[in-house]
Amino acid sequence: MSILTVDELVQHFPIGGSKSVVRAVNGVSFSLDKGETLALVGESGSGKTTIGRCVLGLIEPTGGRINFDGTTLGRHRTVRSPELRGKLQLVFQEPAESLNPRMRVFEQIDEPLRALKMPRADREAKVRLAARRVGLAESLLERFPTEISMGLQQRVGVARAMISEPEIVVLDEPTSALDPTARAEIIDLLIRIQRELGTAYLFISHDLSAVRHISHRIAVLYLGKIVEQGPSAKLFAQPSHPYSVALLSSVLLPNPRIKSGGKIRLSGEIPSPINLPPACYLAGRCPMVIDRCRETMPPVEMVADNHSVRCYRHKEVSELDKDFDSFARFQSEADRILGAGIPEPIKIGIPENAGDR
Ligand SMILES: Nc1ncnc2c1ncn2[C@@H]1O[C@H](COP(=O)(O)OP(=O)(O)O)[C@@H](O)[C@H]1O
Ligand code: SF4
Ligand SMILES: [Mg+2]
Repeated sequence: MSILTVDELVQHFPIGGSKSVVRAVNGVSFSLDKGETLALVGESGSGKTTIGRCVLGLIEPTGGRINFDGTTLGRHRTVRSPELRGKLQLVFQEPAESLNPRMRVFEQIDEPLRALKMPRADREAKVRLAARRVGLAESLLERFPTEISMGLQQRVGVARAMISEPEIVVLDEPTSALDPTARAEIIDLLIRIQRELGTAYLFISHDLSAVRHISHRIAVLYLGKIVEQGPSAKLFAQPSHPYSVALLSSVLLPNPRIKSGGKIRLSGEIPSPINLPPACYLAGRCPMVIDRCRETMPPVEMVADNHSVRCYRHKEVSELDKDFDSFARFQSEADRILGAGIPEPIKIGIPENAGDR
């Protein structure tokens, strides 16, 4: 049962002193089930953050509908409305962005509960539980954010987002400012908390190995349009859109002599969202382009249960390299290099039902 439905979302930003607009989001539809993680992936500038901000009611969309738990969000009903407060939360890329340098860790985690006007006596125990849940020692509660590491700061950010037990958390590049160990620990933590609380995540990330571990489903964005959407394991193993092939095969391999796989190399640069191509947005860069791609936008087609793609040549694309799974190759090659194998190459668990949907 979907907790969030986004239908034909459009977000265009006017440019001061000009009639042009930045077409950041161009008709995006997806849903999110309770307890599920949907990853939004795509190059920088593809509209991921803008979608997250629309869902959180931080900006008003130019068009489309957002429905949260049976309620349509809009000008009069936002996530700040009293009945929805605390049900949708955000974790930022830079932990420092969400933390006030003058407030102690305890007060930072406590703040969303104060906003909900919960009595102090009830809040204290909840803050301590939230800190334990993210692995923060009691002694850290009295420290200021500048006195703890970035990894610990991001744990505070997660504790703060989770303390109101939200239905949905938007995680916008939550690991990209961290070192690899802290990154893996945060992903592990998020998976554990999701199992415990049943929170749904909209997970925005460039970090494809984190995406592969944490997400049940993936939506691939290109210039503010979803070009492919489906179960995470399926998209990594057998993508059906040329852009997904190019993007997902960019997972780095530890041995440079082994090609990253994938048979599609895009040419040129991403076009400007001010001046979008007239039909398929990828036509100018796609090696499989045909005349039709430059004339009419390809429709969304279902290729399997819960798996949709927007490309005229998706059947050929999915046949290109059936055994291609860049992530699995990454792990097996890492295993080979390290001899006996690395017991837990990235110290994070895979959600029990990852890829099942
Ligand atoms: N407030 C804004 N005003 C004008 N353009 C914006 C604004 N916010 C984002 N954009 C533009 O919208 C596009 C999508 O941005 P963003 O959602 O941040 O992408 P991503 O998170 O995928 O990198 C970019 O071209 C960006 O420059
Ligand atoms: S519709 Fe055409 S240009 Fe667009 S991704 Fe498919 S093959 Fe490439
Ligand atoms: Mg962004």
